[in-house]
Amino acid sequence: ATPKAHQQAGNLWSSRMAFILAAVGSAVGLGNIWKFPYITGENGGGAFVLVYLACIAIVGIPVLIAEVMIGRRGGQSPVASMRELTETEGTRKGWRIIGWNGIIASFLVLSFYSVIGGWALAYVGKAASGMFTGADADAIGGAFGGMLASTGDLLLWHSVFMIIVVLIVGRGIRSGMEKAINMLMPLLFVLLFIMVGYATTTGKFGEAVNFMFSPDFSKLTTEGVLTALGHAAFTLSIGIGVMMAYGSYLPQNVNITRTAITIAFMDTGVALLAGLAIFPLVFANGLEPGAGPGLIFVTLPLAFGQMTGGVIFGTLFFALLLVAAITSAISMLEPVVEWLEEHKGINRAKSAFFGGFAIWLVGVGTVLSFNVWAEVHPLAFIPFFEGKTVFDLLDFLVSNLMMPLGGLAIALFAGWAMKRQGLDQELGLQGGLYRAFMFVLRYLTPAGIAVVFIYNLL
Ligand code: PHE
Ligand code: NA
Repeated sequence: ATPKAHQQAGNLWSSRMAFILAAVGSAVGLGNIWKFPYITGENGGGAFVLVYLACIAIVGIPVLIAEVMIGRRGGQSPVASMRELTETEGTRKGWRIIGWNGIIASFLVLSFYSVIGGWALAYVGKAASGMFTGADADAIGGAFGGMLASTGDLLLWHSVFMIIVVLIVGRGIRSGMEKAINMLMPLLFVLLFIMVGYATTTGKFGEAVNFMFSPDFSKLTTEGVLTALGHAAFTLSIGIGVMMAYGSYLPQNVNITRTAITIAFMDTGVALLAGLAIFPLVFANGLEPGAGPGLIFVTLPLAFGQMTGGVIFGTLFFALLLVAAITSAISMLEPVVEWLEEHKGINRAKSAFFGGFAIWLVGVGTVLSFNVWAEVHPLAFIPFFEGKTVFDLLDFLVSNLMMPLGGLAIALFAGWAMKRQGLDQELGLQGGLYRAFMFVLRYLTPAGIAVVFIYNLL
């Protein structure tokens, strides 16, 4: 492979906007609408949100810039790009672990992401059937519980979701994806605004704002801080080679810094809007903010069941959630497929199929953790992991360990190992701005990540 292989082959995003859309497509997903509200609820609200926002600023944005930059400079799959750069920058081979961490983590994350994506898929049909109209919290909670209890249903939706992802990725990075994201992302924003508007009519909007934005640090545990850091990485898709893989298709004239900041703002905006849409409903219906992974699936249908046009809004909402999940899932499969193509010499369609099949198989473990294995806690002998199912463990391993530690390695590699010339050519930062950014990458970002881990170990 050659440096900037994708650039030389002319295999690139068609414009800056195309890259932004794809990267926003990767970033905005279940993480914003499903995960952010439920972990905020589980971790007591305001203080957690504050730490999460600090992690986006201190860790998320700098690592996103560094990761896209490494991707563009290497111009290949994460593994090949890292090999390339360790050679051209004359650094230690050990940095290549960044590439491997990426391939393995994106493989694992997709295995459970696809199961939750399957829930969104199932809910498009449920919303369209009108079954939420006039239903109360018990009926809606019962429907969700019923779905989880059925191994067959979850397997079916997980399979359909993976097939969609494999078909899209197998066709190549450009065809189709740009156009879909281009149209559907703005629609998702509009729909979220409508939901927030509806939430203001519940009489509990103030309470929700209070819950989300007035910090009560007594509610925040050290594991909560780790979860906030992990989620900052998860929601921006950083630390696991996805943004590196997308950066490898980035034209040379695109300003990476500005683009990364745009992506982070859009992603954070969607998460906060989702919270503002959901928590008023939680309080208005006497539900538990800490209800866990089912939170949006038991709150939003209640609202759709009560509002005028709820069948249409509900169907549209879950369809858009599904699209957001698909555009993220596509990006998770990309590093795996790029790697299979380069290293195993099999074509794109076959790589997508074999990669997708292996991921699907691992995903069955997550399917079972919501029913047959609900009481199976594989690592219960380690005190920290008591009560964690297969799904909990996978999520913890990837989101709270592999992604933030991958981010740490990326910051250190870009900050300490790369030569000035490379940074100048890719980022073009001048004088004070360059020094400020290097200070952040070398000290602030690593210190932020290190502090969280050290606290958790003690
Ligand atoms: N950022 C995506 C989301 O918030 C999840 C994701 C993680 C995508 C890792 C790619 C890689 O839903
Ligand atoms: Na996100």
